[in-house]
Amino acid sequence: MDAASDQGAENLPLKSPMAIFMENVVYDLKNVYYAYLGKFPALAGIDLAVVRGEKIAIIGANGTGKSTLLAMFDGLIFPDTGAISFFGRVMDERAFDDATFSRHFRTKVGFVFQNPDVQLFCPTVKEDIVFAPLQFGVEKHKILWRLDKLVEILKIGHLLVRAPHELSVGEKRKVTIASVMINEPEILILDEPTAGLDPETSRSIIDMVLNLAAEGKTVITSTHDLHVAAEISDTVHVFGKDKRIIKTGGAGKILTDEKFLIENNLMHTHRHRHGDKIHTHAHLHEDHHNEKYHWPGAVNLREGTDGAKR
Ligand SMILES: Nc1ncnc2c1ncn2[C@@H]1O[C@H](COP(=O)(O)OP(=O)(O)O)[C@@H](O)[C@H]1O
Ligand SMILES: [Mg+2]
Repeated sequence: MDAASDQGAENLPLKSPMAIFMENVVYDLKNVYYAYLGKFPALAGIDLAVVRGEKIAIIGANGTGKSTLLAMFDGLIFPDTGAISFFGRVMDERAFDDATFSRHFRTKVGFVFQNPDVQLFCPTVKEDIVFAPLQFGVEKHKILWRLDKLVEILKIGHLLVRAPHELSVGEKRKVTIASVMINEPEILILDEPTAGLDPETSRSIIDMVLNLAAEGKTVITSTHDLHVAAEISDTVHVFGKDKRIIKTGGAGKILTDEKFLIENNLMHTHRHRHGDKIHTHAHLHEDHHNEKYHWPGAVNLREGTDGAKR
């Protein structure tokens, strides 16, 4: 490095810790409360930060507030008390009245709703998928290139000319995912993305999301499928019945804590017939990678919930 450029580097203004924080913290929630119509509690004191590039899973039983939190991440609802910020800017109604912020936010954040019916409104699937990038002024040839890629990955070419209401739930979900992915969002929020999908389609969606995460994008997924959570996240936040976060930690640790998962209604128990006996026991994600589990006639030696050893 020569003396001149060295001196140039020295003259660069130092960034304050606050500036660095604002650049890297996508969402910061402080003691957020929210109740629908002011009387149906859905979030009860949420403190949470999402850092740029993180892969987060929000898990919890039905009705624990997962979809509500995601809707708040998408700026669709705002805290009753407490606050949420997006890269340091408070997200409230006023922020979205600012057209510049609103547009900036909408080009960065992509949200796939749990219910695809609320996301599809055009006469045809193709129009639905290209709607947002056309609104954002993305060049047509780029839109068509992205569309081709998505059609191939999701195998939806035959659906493009159909009306959204003529599709099955799984097909609708694929189309909504395409309609969000086509914007190449930096922050991708997915609410139960694989619910109702066959294994092959789930696989292709998880792979797409993982590819996006590998590019450094931030991915937030709500799911009660622990296998999906295990693949799609590094950090897991667990919502409890009282609509607050009861545990946060590494995916590997939380998703193997069988006792905790059963206690919080997050783990299925399965009934199996062994000879003339039916046993009920739980499956962890790791079981599916356990050789013993896959051998014909193999039995799981885990203690069953009925107390029987197999
Ligand atoms: N539109 C709504 N009106 C009234 N209550 C709602 C509405 N949507 C959700 N809730 C309530 O808010 C709580 C959290 O719901 P939700 O965020 O959908 O949970 P999850 O996604 O974890 O299943 C639940 O008690 C639910 O009944
Ligand atoms: Mg939900």
